[in-house]
Amino acid sequence: MRKTLICGVFLAFCCAPCSLGKATGGERGASELILESTIDTAKPPRPAYFPHGAHQVRLECKTCHHGKTAEGKRLSYFEGLKVEKCESCHNSKAGMPEKLSTFKNAAHTLCQGCHRKNNSELVKCTVCHKK
Ligand code: HEC
Ligand code: HEC
Ligand code: HEC
Ligand code: HEC
Repeated sequence: MRKTLICGVFLAFCCAPCSLGKATGGERGASELILESTIDTAKPPRPAYFPHGAHQVRLECKTCHHGKTAEGKRLSYFEGLKVEKCESCHNSKAGMPEKLSTFKNAAHTLCQGCHRKNNSELVKCTVCHKK
């Protein structure tokens, strides 16, 4: 994982000029997001804080974003792919495997998976779910 992160930082540096150029037409999204399930909602709701921009600095878009092929398989991210909400595909009606079956499960798989590899402190609920 450390290798991936270093690599990410390196890439971020190399790509800075070109991605800045594209930022005018391209869509990087907000630098801070509050993520909230609207389909498979928990009670009470537990919105998650996500510093998107801080992650974009060290990671490639494809680490998190992807699409779906006509056959329903995962489609790797490429420049210009329309970024859709995770829960538009990861919801309980879509019949995905358990660890991806809701926004919560898909997000926990992705976010906590990487966090756990870096530092177990980053898996604490309050890191993402501020009160
Ligand atoms: C690394 C970030 C992260 C950590 C750590 C994390 N979560 Fe989440 N969690 C999310 C994201 C992202 C979502 C999906 C968006 C949302 O609804 O909050 C989510 C969703 C949820 C939901 C559904 C929320 C809803 O409103 O439907 C629950 C419940 C939940 N998490 C509980 C927990 C608990 C309990 C822990 C600690 C054991 C935890 N989470 C740790 C990121 C995290
Ligand atoms: C660490 C994971 C991660 C990385 C890396 C990442 N994103 Fe995101 N991005 C997300 C999540 C999660 C959302 C919220 C999706 C949702 O609402 O369901 C999001 C939302 C977006 C949105 C929607 C805009 C918005 O404000 O709601 C765009 C556009 C986007 N990302 C583009 C990018 C691009 C371009 C890159 C690469 C430069 C990138 N992202 C890197 C996780 C990531
Ligand atoms: C256009 C539909 C679509 C969107 C949008 C989408 N996914 Fe996925 N995702 C898939 C499909 C299809 C798979 C493959 C499922 C399988 O293997 O059964 C997948 C696989 C995954 C996996 C497991 C493979 C991997 O990449 O590690 C995770 C984790 C995941 N998605 C999380 C997310 C998160 C988080 C978001 C939002 C940032 C998101 N997905 C957005 C369709 C989507
Ligand atoms: C591929 C790795 C990776 C993925 C995927 C990832 N993160 Fe992180 N995240 C990190 C690392 C590494 C840090 C610690 C950065 C630091 O200490 O500066 C971090 C830190 C954070 C923090 C703490 C920031 C702070 O200011 O305290 C939050 C909140 C967070 N991530 C939320 C999320 C959420 C929500 C997702 C999924 C949508 C996610 N992360 C996906 C690697 C990742």
